[in-house]
Amino acid sequence: MLTPPLLALLICSLLSLFAASQTCTIPSHLPETTGKVNIGGSSLIHAPKNAVWNTVLNFSSYPDWNPFVRSQIVADEFAIPLDNQTAFVGAKIIITSQIPPLPQAVDASTPPDILTQHITIEEITVIDAENYRVAWILVSPQQILSTIRWSAVSTVIDKDGVEKSYYESRETFDGPLASIVKDLLGTDIAESFQAQADALKVWMEA
Ligand SMILES: *[C@@H]1O[C@H](CO)[C@@H](O)[C@H](O)[C@H]1NC(C)=O
Ligand SMILES: *[C@@H]1O[C@H](CO)[C@@H](O)[C@H](O)[C@H]1NC(C)=O
Repeated sequence: MLTPPLLALLICSLLSLFAASQTCTIPSHLPETTGKVNIGGSSLIHAPKNAVWNTVLNFSSYPDWNPFVRSQIVADEFAIPLDNQTAFVGAKIIITSQIPPLPQAVDASTPPDILTQHITIEEITVIDAENYRVAWILVSPQQILSTIRWSAVSTVIDKDGVEKSYYESRETFDGPLASIVKDLLGTDIAESFQAQADALKVWMEA
């Protein structure tokens, strides 16, 4: 049975047979946001949804392919790295990111760019295996800056009738610092999110 988003896309792709220039918007599986600054990226990946989802959650693989998040380490409540790197709700994660992203392609041996490297402590708040959605938030005084990064993987049929996985990720920034982050880093953060989406596609399709 076709779910409404799949149906919308199918209709969309049928229509595009008649109107070659029509662009179809893929329905989002991210939750609605009410935050004031939202930055994200997405890609259409020719790989099974489960495989893409497992890679998104397999933080240990990030150094091998991710030009934005160079490492994401699962840690305990005191931010001490755990032996078992399986992601779980409530885990602290130590995130080392590059904003803007490193030039692609990267692998585990790609050196960092210290000048554009950021290290944050975040916390996993949602792992929704049923809906293939995961979220983590910045651990910081929320009166100043709060963030939530959602990632989702869904199945779509592309315009040629091929089943693909739609990866999308979006970070919402709130609090007094949100507009400053946007002004100073908004373009670079957007580039980083899209670089991760593009690199995930390359990694999964290889
Ligand atoms: C996670 O990724 C690493 C590195 O790419 C790989 O060696 C490992 O098998 C993966 N783990 C799982 C559970 O898929
Ligand atoms: C790591 O933790 C996960 C879930 O928390 C568990 O399923 C898995 O068996 C653990 N792995 C090891 C090697 O202990």
